[in-house]
Amino acid sequence: MVDISELLGIKYPIIQGGMAWIADSSLAAAVSNAGGLGIIACGGAEGEWVRNEIRKTKELTTKPFGVNIMLLSPFVDDIMDVVCEEGVPVVTTGAGNPGKYMNRLKSCGIKVIPVVASVALAIRVQRAGADAVIAEGQEAGGHIGEITTMALVPQIADAVSIPVIAAGGIADGRGIAAAYMLGAKGIQVGTRFLVAEECTVSQPYKDMVLKAKDTDTVATGRSTGHPVRVLKNKLAREILSLEKVNTDPAEIEKLGTGRLRAAVKDGDVVNGSVMSGQIAGLVHKEQSAKEIIEEMFQEALEIYEDRTTICRARGTILRNG
Ligand SMILES: Cc1cc2nc3c(=O)[nH]c(=O)nc-3n(C[C@H](O)[C@H](O)[C@H](O)COP(=O)(O)O)c2cc1C
Repeated sequence: MVDISELLGIKYPIIQGGMAWIADSSLAAAVSNAGGLGIIACGGAEGEWVRNEIRKTKELTTKPFGVNIMLLSPFVDDIMDVVCEEGVPVVTTGAGNPGKYMNRLKSCGIKVIPVVASVALAIRVQRAGADAVIAEGQEAGGHIGEITTMALVPQIADAVSIPVIAAGGIADGRGIAAAYMLGAKGIQVGTRFLVAEECTVSQPYKDMVLKAKDTDTVATGRSTGHPVRVLKNKLAREILSLEKVNTDPAEIEKLGTGRLRAAVKDGDVVNGSVMSGQIAGLVHKEQSAKEIIEEMFQEALEIYEDRTTICRARGTILRNG
């Protein structure tokens, strides 16, 4: 099986999650310079914004980086042209199967890594020619599926022969170690990078993530078929109470429109959508992307080197077996 670091030409097997309105050239270049794979997120932005961010990233780093394309974006065709013209090495995709774009991207020499939340979609994208898959559990921030990382990663690892990258709920070395035990060959991290010094999200947004506890996120929008994990605030409570009384899903969609931007750019963390994963409760300090990555992998290495935990678990199994 191909190693993710080798496949992507990076030092550490970590991808920074695409985060709409947030993951721009500043964060992407910082992560790539630190030895991970930085990602520019397109969200609903136009092709020319994406082109500009790609060019800025190239000015800030000579290392590989990628672009995350939301397949539901009205600008997806333009963006496909842009990533080919600009020679982007890696594309990750969200919200569906990138099958119909696969030949185009491949002919431009781009590695394609779709985000998937089910075994069925993992198999479909492998068949379409994906180079790897990101198996994202429902602990993650942003748009989510129904299955937890713990249950999803091993099932996808058994079902496909391409490398699986685990996402959702990973923010320290223990998460990395666990992901590898489940069959992953790399990890993707979103929430912890929200508080990276190079992340340009508003300070109130960062502060809310830094103060969050384990129980502070909630999934809104289940009634619309597009659930989103966010930190609880006035907007989240309003949406949840409307969903409880079976409000028309179209109304709910409308209520959520433009709210991520409000939290990210204007710092409105009361009426804005503060997307974050459940692991926010473990994220306590703002650090550079380099410090985050090096700390996480150092911790993972220490876990693998210190065999006490493994021996204790083995002892328990043998004693009880
Ligand atoms: C604020 C925010 C915005 C996100 N936006 C996107 C997006 O535009 N496209 C995408 O594929 N995933 C998106 N995600 C998911 C991340 O790329 C990543 O898979 C996820 O954050 C990993 O789980 P974690 O939050 O537990 O680290 C977003 C996540 C967050 C927290």
